[in-house]
Amino acid sequence: MRLSSKDLLGLEDIGAEEITFILETAKEMKKIVTSSMKRVNYLQGRSVVSLFYENSTRTRVSFELAAKYMGAQAVNVSVASSSVAKGETLIDTGKTLEAMGTDIVIIRHNQSGAPHLLARNINASVINAGDGMHEHPTQALLDMMTMQETFGTLEGLKVAIIGDIYHSRVARSNIIGLTKMGAQVQLFAPSTLMPVGIEHLGAKIFPTIKDAIYDCDVVMGLRVQLERQKKCLFPTTNEYCKFFGINPDNIKGAKKNALWMHPGPVNRGVEMTSTIIDADNSVINKQVTNGVAVRMALLYLLIGREEF
Ligand code: CP
Repeated sequence: MRLSSKDLLGLEDIGAEEITFILETAKEMKKIVTSSMKRVNYLQGRSVVSLFYENSTRTRVSFELAAKYMGAQAVNVSVASSSVAKGETLIDTGKTLEAMGTDIVIIRHNQSGAPHLLARNINASVINAGDGMHEHPTQALLDMMTMQETFGTLEGLKVAIIGDIYHSRVARSNIIGLTKMGAQVQLFAPSTLMPVGIEHLGAKIFPTIKDAIYDCDVVMGLRVQLERQKKCLFPTTNEYCKFFGINPDNIKGAKKNALWMHPGPVNRGVEMTSTIIDADNSVINKQVTNGVAVRMALLYLLIGREEF
C-alpha cells in the first residue's frame, strides 16, 4: 500500500485508514531508530531537501536523520543565506530544487498554504513541516503514535489540549487527527487565544483548565507563540503561568496514568511548570524519538523504493 497522494500536506486530507497505516509503519521504523545499527537502504539513491523558512530543531533534525537512517542524500537549505533572500519566489525555488533531482521537499513556512502552493507546482513530493497557523501534520502523527504506544488505541481517549490554541498548527492537526481516530479532544485557552469556531473541527471547549483536564488520559500543553503575537493577548508570562499554565494543582483531576505531552520547544515556567515537564508521566522526549520514526515512515511511504 502507498499513500493516496504524492504529498502529505495536512491531516484534513487523509482518513483514519491512512493514519493507521502511517502509524503502523512508524512502529516498524522505531525498531531501527532505537537499534544500535541505524541504517537501512529503503531510500538509497533518493534525495531529500529541507526548506525551512522558520526556525526548528526537532522537525528539521528528525527529518534529516530519518532520511540518512534510510540511506538518502539529505540536504538542508539555509533560507537566510539562499537565493530566497534575493527575492526568488517559492515556486521558482521549488522548481530549482526539483531540477537538481530532488525527490521530496520538506517545507516549513510562516504562511498558511505555502506547502500546498509548492505541491501544485512541482512533481516532487512535498511534506508540510508546519505552515503558518494552519497544520503541522507530522507533529500530530508523532503525538498520536506516542498515545497509541501507551494506551494501545486512540479510540475513546480523552485528550486535553491547553494553551495558545489560536496560533497553534499543532492543536489544529491534533484535533483533526484525533477526532478522525475516535478520540475526544477537550480544549482550554485564555479567551483571547481561543479561535472562534474551533469546535466545528470536533473538539469541545471548556470554561476552566480544571474542567478541561478532568478525567483525561492525555494533557497536552502548547507553546505560547510570542513571536506570532502582534498585540498583547495576555498581560505577562508570569500571569499566564499562574492563570493558564499547567501545574501540579490543576493537573490533579486527570487520570492517574495520564500522559503529559508538549510538542516543544517548551517555555519552562510559562505554559508548564518544570515539575510537570520532568515528571514520570511526561513523555516529551518519547515524542521526539517517535518523531524520527514517523518521519521515516512518511519518507518511506512517499518516495521509498517499491522493492523494499
Ligand atoms: N515541535 C516542533 O515543531 O518543534 P521544532 O520547532 O523544534 O521543529
